[in-house]
Amino acid sequence: MTATASRPGTGAQTPLPLDVEAIRADFPILSRTVRDGKRLVYLDSGATSQKPRQVLDAERWFYENVNAAPHRGAHQLAEEATGAYEDARAKIGAFIGAPETEIVFTRNTTEAINLVAYALSNAATAKEPEFRTYAVGQGDEIVVTEMEHHANLLPWQQLCERTGATLRWLGLTDDGRLDLSDLDTVVNERTKLVSVTQQSNILGTINPIAPIVERAHEVGALVMVDGAQSVPHQPVDVQALGADFLVFSGHKMLGPTGVGVLWGRYEVLDKLPPFLTGGSMIEVVRMEASTFMPPPQRFEAGVPMTAQVVGLGAAVDYLQALGMENVLAHEEALTAYALEELAEIPGVTVIGPADTVARGGAISFTVEGIHPHDVGQVLDDLGIAVRVGHHCAWPVVRRYGVPATTRATFYVHTGYDDIDALADGIRAAQKFFGTV
Ligand code: ALA
Repeated sequence: MTATASRPGTGAQTPLPLDVEAIRADFPILSRTVRDGKRLVYLDSGATSQKPRQVLDAERWFYENVNAAPHRGAHQLAEEATGAYEDARAKIGAFIGAPETEIVFTRNTTEAINLVAYALSNAATAKEPEFRTYAVGQGDEIVVTEMEHHANLLPWQQLCERTGATLRWLGLTDDGRLDLSDLDTVVNERTKLVSVTQQSNILGTINPIAPIVERAHEVGALVMVDGAQSVPHQPVDVQALGADFLVFSGHKMLGPTGVGVLWGRYEVLDKLPPFLTGGSMIEVVRMEASTFMPPPQRFEAGVPMTAQVVGLGAAVDYLQALGMENVLAHEEALTAYALEELAEIPGVTVIGPADTVARGGAISFTVEGIHPHDVGQVLDDLGIAVRVGHHCAWPVVRRYGVPATTRATFYVHTGYDDIDALADGIRAAQKFFGTV
């Protein structure tokens, strides 16, 4: 148990479960300076995480030793590349409690969601009756929430435009929670699929998935959980979750860019037609027509992102060595401290739950009298990287009546000193703009 040293703040510093200094030493980028020699205070892991040396080494190992296209070719390198790719699939599956046959590699969360959305509209015109099982059409409804980032909204809007289905959504409460009061009306016999984020990228809210799964399954609808902001930060087990799909991105969980995961219950995946077609996903190809492999290969057309998958396997090893329970507890302690520190600054309003109950380490806030972009610029001048804007979740900022927010997000290398720097930076912005 190691607490990172920091100036005495007003917030309570419980010992952090993770050894921040030791972890920082694994991340080469954290030793660089920015803006004329300032320490990099990276509070933008929600957009993309930094990568430890172990992940960078795994990708380099793949290219330097076994680089070949997997699932093609009978030479030694092709065999070893296939082995590395499939070993990583099994490891990543085990990380979320799933067998490897249910793990489909995509480019990222966005592509994983689009894969399912296109499969559901392709189902309507599929020749094989089995592939029509989950077809979406006129009279059907798709349900999302007002809390979704654009990746979990636009693919469903587009699916509805293609098929004539209707998009419905669950609203939000004033304190940043999902409003489930009309769950039984919004999710009804016409609902084909409900897609919901497990942890909001902008509010930090951790959503109750169980009642949504229960209601959706009661009416025969599928459930997709967007784990882009949850899988990197808390233990997630698909068996306990009870949903039909889970999607997440490698680059937000210490892994490389260009690789994401669609987990699907095998019996559901098995009845979905493909999204992308081409090499590697076929059984027999003739000029007249072709047949497709079973999952997961049916959904992995073309030479895949092999080195990235191997890198994501190394990221999973890294997170498992830390322990996802510890990652969660670490971020809970940081979030509690940050909420206390920000509450001490007059003019700062947190958009999202004000307490740590069912809340993750994404803290969005406004500073009275200063545009969020200007806050971000002052912080950047001090070496502090945060995200500003609507965070690809425009309906959320609109719901809370603000044009944008400044957002700090935490991860395994974040310490109390980073949050002290943020609080000091906000005070510096207030001084600079003369609002205090
Ligand atoms: N969804 C990513 C974020 O929140 C891009 O920053």
